[in-house]
Amino acid sequence: MGSSLALPLHLIRQLFFSISSFASTFNFYYFLLLCYLSLLQVEGGYLQDGKGLSNWDVFSHLQGNIENNDNGDVADDHYHRFLEDIEIMHSLGVNAYRFSISWVRILPKGRFGEVNPSGIMFYNNIIDHLLLRGIEPFVTIFHFDLPQELEDRYGSWLSPLIQEDFVHFSKICFENFGDRVKYWATINEPNLLSEMGYVRGWYPPGHCSAPFGNCSAGNSDVEPLIVMHNMLLSHAKAVKLYREQFQQTQGGSIGIIASSHMFEPLRDEESDRKAVSRVLAFVLGWMFDPLVYGDYPPEMRQYLGTELPSFSHEETKLIKGSTDFIGINHYSTLYAKDCIHSACSSGSNHAIKGFVYTTGERDGIPIGEPSGNPEFFVVPEGMEKLINYVKERYKNMPIYVTENGYAPPREQSKQVEDLLQDVKRIEYHKSYLAALARAIKTGADVRGYFVWSLMDNLEWIDGFGTMFGLYYVDRQTLDRTPKLSARWYKNFLTNITTPN
Ligand code: NOJ
Repeated sequence: MGSSLALPLHLIRQLFFSISSFASTFNFYYFLLLCYLSLLQVEGGYLQDGKGLSNWDVFSHLQGNIENNDNGDVADDHYHRFLEDIEIMHSLGVNAYRFSISWVRILPKGRFGEVNPSGIMFYNNIIDHLLLRGIEPFVTIFHFDLPQELEDRYGSWLSPLIQEDFVHFSKICFENFGDRVKYWATINEPNLLSEMGYVRGWYPPGHCSAPFGNCSAGNSDVEPLIVMHNMLLSHAKAVKLYREQFQQTQGGSIGIIASSHMFEPLRDEESDRKAVSRVLAFVLGWMFDPLVYGDYPPEMRQYLGTELPSFSHEETKLIKGSTDFIGINHYSTLYAKDCIHSACSSGSNHAIKGFVYTTGERDGIPIGEPSGNPEFFVVPEGMEKLINYVKERYKNMPIYVTENGYAPPREQSKQVEDLLQDVKRIEYHKSYLAALARAIKTGADVRGYFVWSLMDNLEWIDGFGTMFGLYYVDRQTLDRTPKLSARWYKNFLTNITTPN
């Protein structure tokens, strides 16, 4: 399409040729890469070849739940085009691909039904073709969609019964794919899912709790805490199984992925500085303190008391040390305001945020340039600060930045030509990678970086109009067209030399 020609040459030079200074930082890091996932966001192939009905299939088919009433029935039709997509990845020069496995394609009814052989075959094909192209599969077992059967039978993550289902599903994945998959993440963003599904009511099952308590189903402050508890125990049980039965022979590593913003105090006051450390403990410590140290952060116990579930002695033994790495999905930085000593009117002041109000604006001025999600702002130094925070809090464990990316604000996402000339996305990745390079230079053990996303896809309730891809997808033809950022990323990757 010759999309870059309309840009002034000096701008292209500036974007493409000033990267070598920090590209060399990544020399010894094996992955530098791209991700997107299977299932609802890209896969399509709705109910095809024995796939069951997922909670997101049901949710997205209800009018009004998703912007523009978009759904994932076809999505990017990755189900039929995965070979073309793997060729695209290969042409970009990426060396790893993060994707997730659709639970309902493998087990249409969870453990209450049979394994679907076509589902196994589909992921075997993907894995084999990735490896043929020298691309390492980095697999997430659960990324928001689960069999509707489990929702209907026992309320999915609200019940401890889910633990058995999750382990059953994980075992099938290890057995069938573990000979070739060496990087496993059990669950994508348990902290975000607890918030979106059980506080805001924006993801299935659509439950709410204060201050978002105005949706039809559910309404309890403890639900998100129970959901996280079951996800952590499900993770730990799957890891135990992997370590006992597969890790030695298969030789892989296994971890889990959190969603995390960085935070800055809204006001230059001690209470807001404390709010920053509290919200970080609630957002990240909620997941990783149990997994690394065996219990929830003391701050959470102090403020939530007995509402916060407890681990039994046996569970503590099971959960402590149950992650080989920390996966971080990072996009943005927000301001944090203390809501314990001063009043907060609305917004994200919830128990699971440590009674902290978070916002992207101070006195009407955004903390960074706004991006396609109203809570995402471009603040590159937040990446360095967050990685250093994780390094300090968790004894410099291996870290993967499992997602990082930019979508233009929706009102700017109209003209295809503009979407293809995505200078802002290039600047975003350059500045975030430079910040990551600084954290690595000062000792953070970062093992990989994944761009979100290879191509535009279904951005959950925001539909197809919020576009994170390096490739543009025509919604009629489903043709993939490289944006300027795809060419930039390819160029960037050629500046990195991985060891032989
Ligand atoms: C987090 C999620 O893992 C992914 O599914 C989503 O599309 C991106 N972030 C962008 O919001």
